[in-house]
Amino acid sequence: MHIQKLGPAIGALVTDIDLRQALNSEQQTHLHEALIEHQVLFFEGQDITPHQQRDLAAAFGDLHIHPVYPQHPEVAEIILLDTSMDNPPDNDNWHTDVTFIETPPLGALLSAQHLPSSGGDTLWASGIAAYEALSAPMRALLDPLSAEHDFLQSFPAWRFARTPQERIRWEAARDKHPPVTHPVIRTHPVSGRRGLFVNEGFTSRIVELQKKESDALLAFLREHIAKPEFTVRWRWKRHDLAFWDNRLTQHYATADYLPQRRIMHRATILGDKPF
Ligand code: OGA
Ligand code: MN
Repeated sequence: MHIQKLGPAIGALVTDIDLRQALNSEQQTHLHEALIEHQVLFFEGQDITPHQQRDLAAAFGDLHIHPVYPQHPEVAEIILLDTSMDNPPDNDNWHTDVTFIETPPLGALLSAQHLPSSGGDTLWASGIAAYEALSAPMRALLDPLSAEHDFLQSFPAWRFARTPQERIRWEAARDKHPPVTHPVIRTHPVSGRRGLFVNEGFTSRIVELQKKESDALLAFLREHIAKPEFTVRWRWKRHDLAFWDNRLTQHYATADYLPQRRIMHRATILGDKPF
């Protein structure tokens, strides 16, 4: 396989690999190393079935089944992100997936199934680059802090419990997911690199600070992570696939294509407890 860096901070294009075939151990090691180094990998022309996508993801760890998002009818581990006028996009904010659990995902694989004629790009940002760009006194302030991550911040009832059926699933999800606490700056368990681990999607407050201090610091960090220098933007083609390290990255799905429809399939790999 061939790996081409897409920018200084984050992102690489991987070619000369067929993701429909099971990876041999050498390919798997190579991909894993590339994922740690580049944080998000892009692949083109991968016409992968939901079963193949699940199996590829499962080679990297146990899979997460999302408590709210719809599942593929045949493969529960595949989330259907099918957005249109009836189900408008909700990922147009900078977020790290599923940080509302004790062991947030290690990574995720997203496959483009159906795309609008233009728009619907996705951006990823490096929490490592964002942290390293801060001054030493700012890093020293953030280093010992912890933050609360709340399921309800991204999955409010008004949006995800609109029908009686949705309500049942949403209430079970809410009851199963009280807020959790994670370090504001986490250490990558493989590379040992440190980076920013608060996100607009789920982080509700910094535990050790007064409310106004917490609000101000989170607002600054939300703005900071979005600095273009820390990001890569992918313009999807059908059957492109992105594989990101979810531990120290955030992503933003541009919601600029309605009334057109966009369909993505996601498989999510569970990770370990942030430290
Ligand atoms: C996701 C997500 C991005 C997209 O799958 O976690 O945020 O571009 N989707 O659909
Ligand atoms: Mn996401």
